[in-house]
Amino acid sequence: MDSQKPTIGFYGLGSMGIGMAKNLASHLKTTGGQPLKYSNRTVSKGDQLKDFGAVPEAGFTSLVKSCDIIFTMISNDEVLNGLVQEALTCDVKGKIIVDCSTVHPDTSAAASDKLVAAGAQFLASPVFGASAMAAQGKLIFAVAGPEDASKAIEPLVVGVMGKSILQLGTDVKRSSLLKITGNCMVIGMQELISECHTFAECSGLGTEIFHQFVTDMYGPTASGYSARCTTGSFAPPLDGPPPGFAIDLSIKDAKHALNIAQKSGAFLPTMQAALQNMLSAKAFAGPWLDSSALYGTLRQWAGLPFGNAASRAV
Ligand SMILES: NC(=O)c1ccc[n+]([C@@H]2O[C@H](COP(=O)([O-])OP(=O)(O)OC[C@H]3O[C@@H](n4cnc5c(N)ncnc54)[C@H](OP(=O)(O)O)[C@@H]3O)[C@@H](O)[C@H]2O)c1
Repeated sequence: MDSQKPTIGFYGLGSMGIGMAKNLASHLKTTGGQPLKYSNRTVSKGDQLKDFGAVPEAGFTSLVKSCDIIFTMISNDEVLNGLVQEALTCDVKGKIIVDCSTVHPDTSAAASDKLVAAGAQFLASPVFGASAMAAQGKLIFAVAGPEDASKAIEPLVVGVMGKSILQLGTDVKRSSLLKITGNCMVIGMQELISECHTFAECSGLGTEIFHQFVTDMYGPTASGYSARCTTGSFAPPLDGPPPGFAIDLSIKDAKHALNIAQKSGAFLPTMQAALQNMLSAKAFAGPWLDSSALYGTLRQWAGLPFGNAASRAV
């Protein structure tokens, strides 16, 4: 094994991170790289990575100390801020930290400023695609930050964790901004499809034929959002796997979008509606919901139960 090859670390093994880390660990193993090092708040979630030669580290600080390039995939801005503080307790000179989470552009910029001042490089690299795409290595990475750092991570991304990279230049705010803008599409599409499913049920058309129409007319992406309604995955069982895109995460994204819109003079009425519907869904049925649970709120408005026959009973 070539000891000159960089040691790669991965922190954050939730719905998205576990698939990404598996693909990375497998790639490093088959290409003779240094074994992936990983950590997570709940480190045991990474046990399956040991099958790919990956090695656990007790926490983020020890991961940073033992790696040259560290990927993070965590829930939100507060967690990222905490990780940056932890990293700054180590000597980070020459290291590259790549955050793949969805955070506010100002959070990415603050992380970059602090890490660069300590001699590290920071890439804001949020990803597009759901957890199934993360597992298949089909994510789209939106990367911004120093050019040489972007080049250094390319072989770890394309054909490994992702299918392509969108290069956003050196200003780390731009990739986070693209991600938030993209999520306005995602959440907006979910809102519209959920409204139409409710309409189809109330008007007597039926949701099955509407789902078939969405699939045939608008293709696999829209079909996936529609299926979150028809399969009941908007309100999954409490004792099963966690929701694919947890409602707390999409509430965070909608709030970021509305904050940026307010500062920049844009108006996002669909996001305002979707945010209210997600907040109502969470208040009614708790946090164990997918982002698509705004469908439950729309159903309630129409006099239907929050859940449908395929979801958990809510
Ligand atoms: N799910 C999607 O479809 C999707 C798609 C694109 C982008 N994203 C974005 O990608 C990021 C990760 O999403 P996800 O779906 O993988 O989320 P997730 O399943 O909720 O996982 C969150 C991760 O953050 C860690 N975490 C949470 N609170 C923490 C804390 N206080 N300290 C340390 N670690 C903490 C969790 O650790 P534990 O395992 O110990 O709980 C877990 O590793 C989010 O920013 C999300 O918006 C999600």
